[in-house]
Amino acid sequence: MCGIIGYVGPRDAESVVIDGLRRMEYRGYDSAGIAVVTDGQLALRKKSGKLSNLVAELEERPLPSSHTGVGHTRWATHGAPTDDNAHPHTGADGRVALVHNGIIENFAALRAELEADGVVFASETDSEVAAQLLGREVARGASLVEGMRVICNRLEGAFTLVAVDAQAPDRLVAARRNSPLVVGVGENETFVASDVAAFIEFTREAVEMGQDQIVEVTPSGYEVTDFDGNPGESKPFHVDWDLSAAEKGGYDWFMRKEIYEQPRAVADTLLGRLSDDGELVLDEIRISADDLRRVNKIIIVACGTAHYAGLVAKYAIEHWTRVACEVEIASEFRYRDPIITSESLVVTISQSGETADTLMAIRHARVQGARVIAICNTNGATIPRESDAVIYTHAGPEIGVASTKGFLTQVAACYLLGLYLAQVRGTKFGDEIAAVLDELNGMPAKIQQVLDNTQQVLDLAARLKDRTSMLFLGRHVGYPVALEGALKLKEISYLHAEGFPAGELKHGPIALVDDGIPVFVIVPPQGRDQLHDKVVSNIQEVRARGAKTVVLVEEGDHEVEPYSDEIIRLPKASTLLQPLLATVPLQLFACELATLLGHDVDQPRNLAKSVTVE
Ligand code: M6R
Repeated sequence: MCGIIGYVGPRDAESVVIDGLRRMEYRGYDSAGIAVVTDGQLALRKKSGKLSNLVAELEERPLPSSHTGVGHTRWATHGAPTDDNAHPHTGADGRVALVHNGIIENFAALRAELEADGVVFASETDSEVAAQLLGREVARGASLVEGMRVICNRLEGAFTLVAVDAQAPDRLVAARRNSPLVVGVGENETFVASDVAAFIEFTREAVEMGQDQIVEVTPSGYEVTDFDGNPGESKPFHVDWDLSAAEKGGYDWFMRKEIYEQPRAVADTLLGRLSDDGELVLDEIRISADDLRRVNKIIIVACGTAHYAGLVAKYAIEHWTRVACEVEIASEFRYRDPIITSESLVVTISQSGETADTLMAIRHARVQGARVIAICNTNGATIPRESDAVIYTHAGPEIGVASTKGFLTQVAACYLLGLYLAQVRGTKFGDEIAAVLDELNGMPAKIQQVLDNTQQVLDLAARLKDRTSMLFLGRHVGYPVALEGALKLKEISYLHAEGFPAGELKHGPIALVDDGIPVFVIVPPQGRDQLHDKVVSNIQEVRARGAKTVVLVEEGDHEVEPYSDEIIRLPKASTLLQPLLATVPLQLFACELATLLGHDVDQPRNLAKSVTVE
């Protein structure tokens, strides 16, 4: 989604803004732009396509030197990704420039009003409406902050706005409703951005903006108010990861680096969860044990990969707690009038904590009286802030658009939650919980073992790179793993890939199997899982119809050998924990195959890292 940065201070605004935009490229975008203020004038440059196009334009038509600037990477919603539709947009007299992230839902009515007032629009965007409204207020004599208040009270929808005024060269004004915004506080310099990554090089002191707030920033500080000008509360925090964590560290892609970070990420997620007497403690659960005992239904809501983590969680949570657990795609949730009561527990999973569909789903759930627990990777993001409790996954920044360590840590956090509920509700004995925790704590070393043996997966990607379609099959927790394997491949290689429950194959999908189609199959543990033999039969069914079978199976299982064209061995694990291992080769396979096809693995076409519009 769009990335925003604004800067005021002694440095060269252009280079701070361009570097900040570069660090937010992972969010996904299709045009970029910058505006700086110098000598009472605005200077703007905007280009469709990658940031390198804007940089080339700046080399050809340099901007004047300046200490105040705003920049934007746009992910198109209203209007194609053209130079004209790129941000910043200006008011009619060219005095103010504004950038926007979000969607202004009442833009058509506001545009009609402005056009009736003689305003001629330069773009097709909803965002220009905000720039034109602000320009009109400032032209009528309002200061930038006063103008911002007026327009925020007129806009409906989701917006982060940042504006500069050519006649107020040492300040920026920003506003936030439903889209992310943080302030970075440096020494005699201040930043505003969608993401701390944009300014982490200069300061790690940040301030989280609340909902419906405006901030006016100058080099010496910031002032927060609400949309009516009343003083607003804001929450300072220290960013505890550094720039190197957001850089590639020698890998070709962030995605590959993040795949290899998984042993540490999962270990960090599990760290410090046991009390001295061996009880599982989740400090962040601020819902009383009595309330958790009253829960009669668990509903997991999430999108994309996080939704698949939820599907894995369902098997574990129901098995350990005996409470019914539904898993919902967040964008569908509130529109089907779900049955939610004060005894429902909604668990929301989001790496970014900013996904609009998920946010709206939990708002709906809370209005109906449900308690909400968020599983999230981003400290202080909107979703955990609006939930009753949060379990943070400690994966560190995930930059690649295709989620990898996000998924594994979400699954690990869901296991923790399931075991915690089992402990509180007494559905498992303490020693049973301790045994699962013990196995869980051993998983990072096993994930490392998978990562130490990847040459086979890389070779396989090279052999299969010219295929146009692949299938992924699994049963029980292997089914969400199959879905995730297919999603990874689709997202970054643009190949047709589908995940199916292996038992469903004969009810339709087997018609897709033709000569030579690669079919990946996740096999449950042999001898300890009732589905093992059924999956082996499913492998035979597809192989008999010409499929090339790639079988992911634990060490020592020889039964699959006669039916496998390729065997990927996994360390032994219990059925419920196997997704932490089986997903890893599939992630790496997708990453390698997309690399061989020459795709931009970290920023696949049409996708954004954090989807902040519904
Ligand atoms: O930040 P979130 O976890 O809420 O994001 C949810 C999905 O948008 C995300 O998982 C998406 O499906 C990824 N591109 C998957 O790789």
